[in-house]
Amino acid sequence: MKVITIDGPSAAGKGTIGANLSQRLNCFYLDSGMLYRQIAAWVLADGASLTEESDVKNIVAKKLPFLKWVQGYVPSEDLRAPKISDAASKIGVFQEVRRLANQYQRDLVSASSGWVIVDGRDAGTVVFPDAVVKLFITASPNIRAKRRYLQLIERGYTSDLYELEEEIIQRDLRDQKRDIAPLKPAPDAYIIDTSEETIDESVQRVLKYLEKYIDA
Ligand code: DC
Repeated sequence: MKVITIDGPSAAGKGTIGANLSQRLNCFYLDSGMLYRQIAAWVLADGASLTEESDVKNIVAKKLPFLKWVQGYVPSEDLRAPKISDAASKIGVFQEVRRLANQYQRDLVSASSGWVIVDGRDAGTVVFPDAVVKLFITASPNIRAKRRYLQLIERGYTSDLYELEEEIIQRDLRDQKRDIAPLKPAPDAYIIDTSEETIDESVQRVLKYLEKYIDA
């Protein structure tokens, strides 16, 4: 299998670009944010503290081996709720949790053939450092807050744009400043700032870049 990683902060367009590419390449797409969201939901349902590493790790070690993930899998739309976004970023700081989540992703990917797209924060830097193509998608916090706001409203959540921008900035800081696998572009990543582009323009830019890697 040949891996394309897509890293970057939340609401930069990774998901939309990743889903679009996976349709065009007809390949497996793994949204690792959903995996961290699923873990966060297990911890919240258990009532354990999000800041107790050993409790969180025990929950992951118990549940992850039984999690079945297939193409296009979204465990539940509820996992996109803002409370879960925040909790996922909190449990994502733990080394042992990341080790188990990384192994889970590598096992899934090695069971696939052809191209595989993995979207996350550290897919190109840590989980798949030998990926053939590494993309880093970003946009300004203000633009990302507006996009996330519209998504949430569309999904029926109530939201406040200014609070959302503040949450995005806080979550970025936590994801970027953590000691283990912080959010940052791999040295060999192609960096795409989508602030001034429509999603179609960004997808076209990525497809152009991929031409040299993918046979027509
Ligand atoms: O991509 P997302 O917004 O669905 O991810 C939610 C949170 O999960 C994100 O703020 C940090 C964490 N996460 C992570 O630590 N590592 C990943 N590979 C993906 C997500």
